[in-house]
Amino acid sequence: MAVAVRSGRGESGGGSVLRSFFSYRIFVSAMFTLLFLATLSVLFSSHPVVETEGNTYVGGTFLALQSDPLKTRLDLIHNQANNHMALVKVYAMYARKLKLEISEQLKMFNDLAKNFSDIQLKPTYLTALFESEGPIDEDVLRQFEKEVKDKVKIARMMITESKENYDNQLKIQKLKDTIFAVHELLLKAKKNGAVASSIAAKSTPKSLHCLAMRLMEERIAHPEKYKDDEPKPEFEDPSLYHYVIFSDNVIAISVVVNSVVKNAEEPWKHVFHIVTDRMNFAATKVWFKMRPIQGGAHIEINAMDNFKFLNSAYAPVLRQLESANLKKYYFETRADNSTTKDINNTKFRNPKYLSMINHLRFYLPELYPKLHKVLFLDDDVVVQKDLTPLWKIDMDGKVNAAVDTCFGSFHRFSEYLNFSHALIKEKFNPRACAWAFGMNMFDLDAWRWEKCTEQYHYWQNLNEDRTLWKLGTLPAGLVTFYSTTKSLDKSWHVLGLGVNPSISMDEINKAAVIHFSGDMKPWLDIGMNRYKNLWSKYVDNEMEFVQMCNFGM
Ligand SMILES: *[C@@H]1O[C@H](CO)[C@@H](O)[C@H](O)[C@H]1NC(C)=O
Ligand SMILES: *[C@@H]1O[C@H](CO)[C@@H](O)[C@H](O)[C@H]1NC(C)=O
Ligand SMILES: *[C@@H]1O[C@H](CO)[C@@H](O)[C@H](O)[C@H]1NC(C)=O
Ligand SMILES: *[C@@H]1O[C@H](CO)[C@@H](O)[C@H](O)[C@H]1NC(C)=O
Repeated sequence: MAVAVRSGRGESGGGSVLRSFFSYRIFVSAMFTLLFLATLSVLFSSHPVVETEGNTYVGGTFLALQSDPLKTRLDLIHNQANNHMALVKVYAMYARKLKLEISEQLKMFNDLAKNFSDIQLKPTYLTALFESEGPIDEDVLRQFEKEVKDKVKIARMMITESKENYDNQLKIQKLKDTIFAVHELLLKAKKNGAVASSIAAKSTPKSLHCLAMRLMEERIAHPEKYKDDEPKPEFEDPSLYHYVIFSDNVIAISVVVNSVVKNAEEPWKHVFHIVTDRMNFAATKVWFKMRPIQGGAHIEINAMDNFKFLNSAYAPVLRQLESANLKKYYFETRADNSTTKDINNTKFRNPKYLSMINHLRFYLPELYPKLHKVLFLDDDVVVQKDLTPLWKIDMDGKVNAAVDTCFGSFHRFSEYLNFSHALIKEKFNPRACAWAFGMNMFDLDAWRWEKCTEQYHYWQNLNEDRTLWKLGTLPAGLVTFYSTTKSLDKSWHVLGLGVNPSISMDEINKAAVIHFSGDMKPWLDIGMNRYKNLWSKYVDNEMEFVQMCNFGM
């Protein structure tokens, strides 16, 4: 049974790096517990099917007649039927347990469980296979086998279909029950686990919205204070340490910057290049005017729109983002298309995948033509150490330095790319180890030399119809930097603090950079309390708007 549970598992992929491992573990352990209970219930329960005399009799006959090869085969088929019945019941059970309200599914699982036992109780089979004293009729057995196999096929299909749903639902339920205080939105959203967690994670919480509004108000009230600065020579000085952060979240940006600066031994050597969207550009500038960067570090803030080369004639992803087809693909909630026309459906839209901000990372040499090397940081990281030693690591001529994320069969290329596609199959090894975005050292000279942007354009163009990969920037990164990535020691970058509650504190404390990858961002209510302080200690609590907006750190 456990094998059947495992086998459907590979396809979740994508997404954040540790999520699948984490949910997989919960999933498997829950499955074992429930499976055990279900098996017991099959054996002892008051379920009418199990109580019938026929079934009891069947059990008895088996033990007595082991020697006949046909009987052994019958035994196998019978066991297979029972195993799948138990498995199907488990699903029915946690459909009930989790109050999924997917009543149709519940009914299907129950039906199917009943169908399994019905087959065995059919009079023809009872008399010919189980009750007869003489030899077993092979034709009847074959018929019986076929019926059971058909049901097994249906059971597997149904389970595969619901797996993703249960997986998410289970994760949410587990977190809700035992570990965290979960956002009220999760309580409301019972229909589909995936949608529920994405609402909670991606809708802008009130505090973030409030902060952006306050910063904008401040700028409007005092335009004279917020005139544009001249660019500083440090912005292009290749002897300094240059960080790039692409984000539309002001508080997150401030935490990243603050954490680098506070831990830097020579903060004046560090330069931050922030790129945000048009909406948050002014707010971000106001923030860093009101709370100037400490220690003599430097900060340059840009809006994406200021980079004129980024247009749909040049960047395939922009052209693709503008195509109606893709918008439809991302915007429509495929879980339930009855709500498609609902205006509230905007909640389900996930701007993350649509945003050009996420693809800016593929244009670093063009964004910073004077620089030789930059450290790319996601906005959900916290830096805990002086990063100078990282800047001194020899890149061995590679373009990208990153930590590997694979273990066992997980997070291999096969999980992110479509190896049924001839081009993918031809160019890449499905067992190649994936790495993580979030903290990447990029050698921009090597990048220019290797023409990685062209590589990226080549693959992104091919993926117009999304047959090479589905979502996100990681698969694009994996193909772009396939032979040009250097593996860093894992202690440089520890991932999963937004998804995995069981990372050891020792590992975290030793990490130079921790990464809240996953949906449970530390600035959200659903962020894990266990790790929140690692982030919130870098929040500028003295900033008046942070207090006003009730971040409650
Ligand atoms: C169970 O059996 C009934 C009657 O044979 C059939 O209509 C139904 O589709 C079966 N259910 C499943 C889930 O296969
Ligand atoms: C979903 O939308 C399609 C196209 O509008 C429609 O044909 C189909 O019946 C809808 N399905 C459901 C379950 O509403
Ligand atoms: C949609 O949102 C409006 C407020 O914006 C609310 O009044 C309405 O009840 C919502 N509809 C649904 C179906 O949730
Ligand atoms: C993978 O690629 C093959 C070949 O192009 C294509 O037929 C298939 O639909 C792709 N799979 C997905 C999930 O896009």
